[in-house]
Amino acid sequence: MEPSVTNQAERVRAGFRDHFGQPEVVVRSPGRVNLIGEHTDHNLGYVLPAAIDRAIWIAIRLRDDRALRFVALDKNEHFEGSVDALHTVDAGWPNYLMGILSELQKLGVELRGVDCVFGGNVPIGCGVSSSAALECGFAFGLNAQLQIGLSRVAIAQLGQRSENRFVGVNCGIMDQFASCMGKERRLIRIDCRDLSYQYVPFEREDLSLVLCDSQVPRTLTTSAYNLRRAQCEAGVAKLAERDPEISSLRDATAADVEALRDELDPAVYRRCAYVVAENQRVLSVCASLERGDMAAVGAAMYATHDGLAHGYEVSCPELDILVDAAHGLPGVLGARMMGGGFGGCTINLVENDHLAAFHAGMAVAYHDRLGKEPAIHVCRPTAGTELLA
Ligand code: GLA
Repeated sequence: MEPSVTNQAERVRAGFRDHFGQPEVVVRSPGRVNLIGEHTDHNLGYVLPAAIDRAIWIAIRLRDDRALRFVALDKNEHFEGSVDALHTVDAGWPNYLMGILSELQKLGVELRGVDCVFGGNVPIGCGVSSSAALECGFAFGLNAQLQIGLSRVAIAQLGQRSENRFVGVNCGIMDQFASCMGKERRLIRIDCRDLSYQYVPFEREDLSLVLCDSQVPRTLTTSAYNLRRAQCEAGVAKLAERDPEISSLRDATAADVEALRDELDPAVYRRCAYVVAENQRVLSVCASLERGDMAAVGAAMYATHDGLAHGYEVSCPELDILVDAAHGLPGVLGARMMGGGFGGCTINLVENDHLAAFHAGMAVAYHDRLGKEPAIHVCRPTAGTELLA
């Protein structure tokens, strides 16, 4: 059995005590889902994510010297370094912590050494942003301990800058924003141009958000992500030659993109057409949610999957199989791949009355079509990063 939420916090506290003594703060920092609005954040458009009830717990204590001592409990891995030598390492996860320290340093914060132990129940590498959860939780804890005074939004921005500049992923703001700003039973509609946001109720007792993990190792993700982003920028440069008012794909209409079709590189055209359509889908899904028209929400999810597979071209056979399998099951309103792509999971909108059948039906697809054991997580929108007593 997976430890309960209280036990997760206790487990991390106990892990900290084993290594370093008593922690000064413990932070819970959640992963996220995204109902719709994929690859729109770095194009300054709209997204509709939520923080979820899967999180990383992070125990922290400042040190009197310059040493960094980090422990990843679930991996049983240790890292030792210094605040005076922040550089990327091959191991992966220490970069998320050192990136935050590096960005704090750039803000002029006087750093000290830190002991940190973390662990949790966010599925890793499954596209629910365990990295953003770790970044935001660590920044949140340091913000409190060092009395830096950053707002939640500023912490999310710090996390994004750290991914962009330290880790080397040119991601948008969605993951960090959702992790920091989540609320119980709410999705967050974010306008990624000015970071204005609204909470959108998601209170249907009859529906669940269900993740199906493709279990595909996500090795190509960073380079492909950065390439897609560059292609969007190339499209914007062309669009702006014709209309100087266009400074991101957010400003472009489907007609603008169509008008330039012959002048754009075909891949650039497909990326731009997808992003412009996806922005509109976020707005129409918000309207559908308000009307309670969940069939329309589900239909938009399928349309997004199609766009991600054929226009943005970030799906893979396993994700397509999982969406296809879900589509054929009773009580499934919508399904699509979620997140950066090339692996990770699908998000499914499923009627609770059909949840058992969903599990059974997907298990058959996993076994017969993927040759894998099913990895299915039912999750719900929850509060964002928080300090625990
Ligand atoms: C990753 C990035 C986000 C976003 C999604 C795709 O999760 O970190 O910023 O671009 O991919 O929507």
